[in-house]
Amino acid sequence: MILKKIIVSFLLISNMAAYAQTKSITNETAGQKTARMKWFTDARFGMFIHWGLYALPGRHEWVKQRERLTTEQYEQYFDNFNPDQFDPKKWASEAKAAGMKYAVLTTKHHEGFCLFDSKYTDYKSTNTAAKRDLVKEFVDAFRAEGLKVGFYYSLIDWHHPDFTVDRIHPQRERNKNEWSENEKRDTAYYQNLNKGKDMSRYRKYLKDQLTELLTKYGKIDILWMDFSYPGAQGKGRNDWGSIDLLKTVKKLQPHIIINNRLDLNEYTDGFDFETPEQVKPNELLKYKGKYWETCQTFSGSWGYYRDEHSWKTQRQLLDLLITSVANGGNLILNVGPTARGEFDYRANKALDSLSYWMHANSRSVYHCTYPPDELKLPTEMNTRLTYNPVTGKLYIHLFNYPSDGKLVLPGYKGKVKYAQLLNDASEVQFTTTGFDMELKLPREKPPYEVPVIELNTK
Ligand code: GLC
Repeated sequence: MILKKIIVSFLLISNMAAYAQTKSITNETAGQKTARMKWFTDARFGMFIHWGLYALPGRHEWVKQRERLTTEQYEQYFDNFNPDQFDPKKWASEAKAAGMKYAVLTTKHHEGFCLFDSKYTDYKSTNTAAKRDLVKEFVDAFRAEGLKVGFYYSLIDWHHPDFTVDRIHPQRERNKNEWSENEKRDTAYYQNLNKGKDMSRYRKYLKDQLTELLTKYGKIDILWMDFSYPGAQGKGRNDWGSIDLLKTVKKLQPHIIINNRLDLNEYTDGFDFETPEQVKPNELLKYKGKYWETCQTFSGSWGYYRDEHSWKTQRQLLDLLITSVANGGNLILNVGPTARGEFDYRANKALDSLSYWMHANSRSVYHCTYPPDELKLPTEMNTRLTYNPVTGKLYIHLFNYPSDGKLVLPGYKGKVKYAQLLNDASEVQFTTTGFDMELKLPREKPPYEVPVIELNTK
């Protein structure tokens, strides 16, 4: 009897667990989702743009939080915001030249400042010396270049009077680990600071602003909402009204693609893609088979950071891009324009180096993913493989170049019709021995950090 009870409750629990993973908010089928996601999975490479008042202090977009600044102290950045060099057409042509197919702009970051002319706040670009709706100009410029446009919108808001102080807020309690959900919090401290604040009014503000963003600027391709941190003195789906927000967004723009930070991960359709942030290339393998986009900075910060010097090399950037595609995902690379509204020289240099590589090699990126299982190379060769399932082309990215020009492809006999270098379409001759193929590459490495061989597979 007891055993039967145990078995029954075990079955009930496992059923509930299965149910938890299949909860859904809409009734979209997997096939419909694949079609909706198609442009995104074909594109593979996008530009993130983090721009706001934090460009003025120029020491990280979290400066208000990191330095525990009050809204009064932060006000000087609003007063001095004057992006006299803002020219989004230039941004768009640089993004396009670098081979990026879409761009996502911070319409509002955690500081709460809006780059658009929202009727629900005065804390917006139209009330600064810029006097313009910067989001509108961004959308027009990027669309004109044929790029898809996306909006980043911060769920967090350290300026709104109804947004309660929580464990990561600029005015949070001192000497606590703000990322720990379990650490004991001084509830009285927060209750005291939050007297009179009303998150239901803030929820309405979120919904109203998202409605503005999704009705006033035409078709928006991506919505990137950021972010949830549930638990003690944190915020998650009930604080944002996530389900309601998601439904509203989908009603206004049914085709839109949504990231995964609304705290709706237990719903199959609570998000469209995962967002591994600032991870190393070797951590990307685990996302294979899912929809995902890794977001990465050129340096350590998203917002403009004048004195930060850990800028990634061209090789590191290419590794991120190629390894993303080789694992079936996207890369969105971030630029933090200066307070004058320009990309700084380091960002321009990085973008130029990507343009150079992409001009010659982008065919191994767009429409590509990981190859079928039977097309493999030994991992110690330091190559990454990408594959275009429509054309049947396999791309070998050479992170190390063989000094004798010889490259053996084990087990490839009979699998390849033709081989060439991608950058100049020059033939790569090959011979076969046993089950293997041996490519004869030029002795001199082609003038690209990572040369690519294109194989026409049978
Ligand atoms: C983080 C940060 C933020 C940045 C974002 C991009 O969540 O809060 O500053 O905008 O990641 O992924």
